[in-house]
Amino acid sequence: MAAARSVLSLSRILQPWSGVTGGTVIRPVLCSRREKTTYTPPPAKYGGRHTVTLIPGDGIGPELLNHVRELFRFCCVPVDFEVVTVDSSVVSEDEINNAVTAIRRNGVALKGNIETNHNLPPSHKSRNNLLRTSLDLYANVMHCQTLPGVQTRHKDIDIIIIRENTEGEYSSLEHENVPGVVESLKIITRVNSLRIAEYAFKLAREKGRRRVTAVHKANIMKLGDGLFLQCCKEVAAGYPDIAFDNMIVDNTTMQLVSKPQQFDVMVMPNLYGNVVSNVCAGLVGGPGLVPGANYGKDYAVFETATRNTGKSIANKNVANPTATLLASCLMLDHLGLVDYASMIRKAIFKTLSETRLHTADIGGLATTSEVVQSIMREVQKTGPLTSEYI
Ligand code: NAI
Repeated sequence: MAAARSVLSLSRILQPWSGVTGGTVIRPVLCSRREKTTYTPPPAKYGGRHTVTLIPGDGIGPELLNHVRELFRFCCVPVDFEVVTVDSSVVSEDEINNAVTAIRRNGVALKGNIETNHNLPPSHKSRNNLLRTSLDLYANVMHCQTLPGVQTRHKDIDIIIIRENTEGEYSSLEHENVPGVVESLKIITRVNSLRIAEYAFKLAREKGRRRVTAVHKANIMKLGDGLFLQCCKEVAAGYPDIAFDNMIVDNTTMQLVSKPQQFDVMVMPNLYGNVVSNVCAGLVGGPGLVPGANYGKDYAVFETATRNTGKSIANKNVANPTATLLASCLMLDHLGLVDYASMIRKAIFKTLSETRLHTADIGGLATTSEVVQSIMREVQKTGPLTSEYI
């Protein structure tokens, strides 16, 4: 409640922009649509506005997404949210199916993480996982980079992690046919391995990157990870301008914590992707800082990169809002609203560069709403969108 009150109070402290300021009509933003080779964002509708599905999730998700809504209102971002609540404790899959239907309708979603209680029966599938597989969001993309003002052991980190998001160890196929012997199926397919490798190389080329590293454990899982690695090699042959190498996952995590600057773009199966992205988030300051995106051919869902719920800090106005706000910027990029994304991102980084505005997770004392308030002030300083953004 306290957090919700503080969000509401922000709009009173800071005057939001309106279509008209001091008699001057603000120019409408020119939305330069991004050239993407792998997916097409849905067109704007209803008078140039986009509708996006919003899934608040558990823990800190609802309060942080409220901050996104407040900030979007403040910045007059032409996005409307359709809120779909998914309750992690409900056994029926109706709610997550409703959410999937809403995303199919809107094409895009922004979400908090939905808790998965591991004491529930094996038949209870992770809602997050169901969402990704139902929508075939096969590429999880996380850009992990050193952030301004955040003190970390390693500097100059700039890694793009591409994680296969629909198969591998997340098949939810487990059985105990013989008591005391559990088999968990890890599924690696040629089609999906080629698809994610192609995505990684295309993105690397698009972003002007020089090297792609495939992460695997093919020395032990000779068939499964062997196939993944083979597919990466085949795709690499079509990209002579981009260097390709591979690294065993255990060595990868050691190399990451000792010399992370050696990595450029990394591509890997599902579970390694989860582990590596959490390690990388830790390297640049933690789960409150890094946004993540899930792309498929038809849909895109944005969330924080490490997908935590942060239940223990929920509703205390102490969570770091950066990762969620940056995820909303990735969403705006995807919608072609790159000028709004760039303006908000710039305000976020300016705020982050001030130590007094750091939340507890990165060693500060600031509250969530103080951070958001500062971001609004920075946006306000920018004034109406200028040529810098258009
Ligand atoms: P958690 O939610 O307990 O978070 C780990 C730590 O990071 C906690 O100390 C939390 O306070 C801190 N933290 C997270 N977000 C923060 C923020 N914005 N600002 C400041 N501190 C922040 O993580 P845990 O135990 O891994 O996951 C909890 C739930 O999330 C479980 O239901 C799990 O199934 C689900 N989940 C977690 C994933 C992961 O990669 N860790 C992936 C998918 C689901």
